[in-house]
Amino acid sequence: MCYNEGQIWSEVEALQIGTLTIDPPVLLAPMAGVSNRAYRLIARRQGAGLCVTEMVNANALLHQSRKSASMMDLDPEEAPVGVQIAGSDPETMAEAARMAEAAGADLVDINMGCPVRKVVANGDGSALLTRADVAEAVVEAVVKAVRIPVTVKMRAGWDASSITAPQLAERFVALGVQAIAIHARTRADFYQRPANWDYIRQVKARVGDAVPVIGNGDVDGPQAAARMMEETGCDAVMIGRASFGDPWIFRRVVHYWRTGRELEPPSAEERAAMALAHLERLVELKGEFVAVREMRKQLGWYLKGVEGSARFRAFATALETASEARELVAAWLRHARGRAMAWQ
Ligand SMILES: Cc1cc2nc3c(=O)[nH]c(=O)nc-3n(C[C@H](O)[C@H](O)[C@H](O)COP(=O)(O)O)c2cc1C
Repeated sequence: MCYNEGQIWSEVEALQIGTLTIDPPVLLAPMAGVSNRAYRLIARRQGAGLCVTEMVNANALLHQSRKSASMMDLDPEEAPVGVQIAGSDPETMAEAARMAEAAGADLVDINMGCPVRKVVANGDGSALLTRADVAEAVVEAVVKAVRIPVTVKMRAGWDASSITAPQLAERFVALGVQAIAIHARTRADFYQRPANWDYIRQVKARVGDAVPVIGNGDVDGPQAAARMMEETGCDAVMIGRASFGDPWIFRRVVHYWRTGRELEPPSAEERAAMALAHLERLVELKGEFVAVREMRKQLGWYLKGVEGSARFRAFATALETASEARELVAAWLRHARGRAMAWQ
């Protein structure tokens, strides 16, 4: 496979995770506070082949946390969908995986990447990268607990001097894991440093074609997605932050793979319509009070790209009601249209 400007990527194949076919092989990353049902459905409709839920804390789930249970509330229209679980006690994780399967998940993903202090203090998330025995026990228990495919999303290691992901990935595959997603940073990197895609290459080199490897970290558009596959040999790409306010990115990546050409970015009308559709879905899902607070940041991301948009984004941070949000989007659209006229 070779990447050149304008080349048609006819070789980009669907991703096969066990019995599950993911087509196209571009995924929405699990993101706490973002990848809820509303966001996932939008991403799916814009071409993401698979979305993964926010991480669900296995312990909280077993203690009947309503919030955790609601994160596994899946929409039949979003299938296939993965549920991500986090924890480090094998039995608790196995039970959480069974609950995810019962909730209708098409796969269950184990979190071995979360860098947050509170999470690693419990031995969860990226702390598992430092304890191979515990990580393997978790994987083994989860694989045994469910019939759906099990995947692991991991960082490269704790820090640059302990890149454990390649060996761990190989072990996990031997234990029955059906795909590895690798976020090309260490725990010590948090989000500060640029992703080092060589970590993805290393994992792919170790795992070979035994199971697919999904590359993740700093893919900000179609060309980067193509470059990541070319440079690392990964089988699919996972996109997180670049989809904020830009769920069209999945469609653009796929179009570029298929045609070698970039799609036009969305118009102001399309941005406004998507922002409103997102708002309505979120209100339906979480009620107006919570939805509007979550939409403050989302609207900030949608209402970009037009000179003079900063003040609209500033207003977005203080929205209280859905009708205020709708008015703000309408005002931004009038402004964007005005700017477009001024350019002509
Ligand atoms: C707000 C936010 C929340 C995140 N939550 C999770 C999570 O719940 N589980 C997880 O595995 N990774 C989580 N991540 C990491 C992303 O899945 C992804 O690995 C990371 O953002 C790098 O990809 P990107 O450069 O495409 O954003 C989160 C990232 C962000 C920005």
